[in-house]
Amino acid sequence: MFETIAWSDEGVVMIDQRKLPAVEEYPVFKTYEEVAQAIKDMVIRGAPAIGVAAAMGVALGAESIKSRDPKRFDQEFQSICTTLAATRPTAVNLFWAIERMKGVYRRHKSRGPAAVAAALKTEALRIHDEDIRLNRRMGSHGAALIQDGSRVLTHCNAGALATAGYGTALGVIRAAVEQGKRVEVLADETRPFLQGARLTVWELQKDDIPVTLITDNMAGYYMKQGQVDCVVVGADRIAANGDVANKIGTYSVAVLAREHQIPFYVAAPLSTVDLDVPTGDEIPIEQRSPREVTHLGERAIAPDGAPAGNPAFDVTPHRYVAAIITDAGVARPPFLENLRDLKGRAGNLDSHADSALSL
Ligand code: MRU
Repeated sequence: MFETIAWSDEGVVMIDQRKLPAVEEYPVFKTYEEVAQAIKDMVIRGAPAIGVAAAMGVALGAESIKSRDPKRFDQEFQSICTTLAATRPTAVNLFWAIERMKGVYRRHKSRGPAAVAAALKTEALRIHDEDIRLNRRMGSHGAALIQDGSRVLTHCNAGALATAGYGTALGVIRAAVEQGKRVEVLADETRPFLQGARLTVWELQKDDIPVTLITDNMAGYYMKQGQVDCVVVGADRIAANGDVANKIGTYSVAVLAREHQIPFYVAAPLSTVDLDVPTGDEIPIEQRSPREVTHLGERAIAPDGAPAGNPAFDVTPHRYVAAIITDAGVARPPFLENLRDLKGRAGNLDSHADSALSL
């Protein structure tokens, strides 16, 4: 099995997702600047995985601060956080993880640089391990929605590669399979970065879960043929009202699913739910380089200089979403009340506060 991201004595190790499926390579990122660049360049991608990478980047950065002067240390720490926060704007898990690291910093900074760096490393590893645990929980909640013999369509990659492990949408599918259900996956290729073709198919094949690759514009055909029983996707940010930002093309899939009366499910940890954002209209949408659209790898597929748009995400209005599967349970409409309720209950039950004992 592969590991998406891990801490090592040399730095942060990540599987290079730009090179999959052709090459399985694990470069080491030795500085926080390198980690930030890796997030920007999509060596690592997927909302929860980006959060883990940012947390490890903060820990790595804090270890490297030379100054023993508290004020200077503080400035350098803030600048590390700012650099990592400036990598990708849509996935809220990035900011959530950095905020969590800042909280640890505030609680430990009076203990001196070595102690604060150790506490930050512990917290980054905790975020990593917790992510896998929460994905498994999400999987067991979501598997109840998948019937034996289901054909499930998914978009982008919301799998082990997009998280610390196991996955969100693919975690739900994995859990259903682990319960003995027969599941077949239809994977949208997900233009332009091809996360579906390159990553989802790769990791499902490794697990021997039957998967058929389709191009994005084939989804309607398969739905009309009655060959899709439900859709399960991940999310980069979910607004308080249940609007879902996810990989570009998700909205089209949701509209098609509604037309064909196919349930459209979203699987995401509660850290992806951003109650500070009232609706999807306020979610910032990353615009990426037109080159990702005009080129396939190094090969141009459009005339030289052709203008191209490249919004990396879109927002699916909550009215298209049948349920949001989280680590704390499944939220149904009305999402405004039910998401708030789930977050509130989980906040009370699940304390993230670190303790000196666990350092
Ligand atoms: O641009 P990416 O590859 O980071 O986009 C990833 C997605 O849109 C995923 O569906 C989302 O982050 C959920 S991952 C569990």
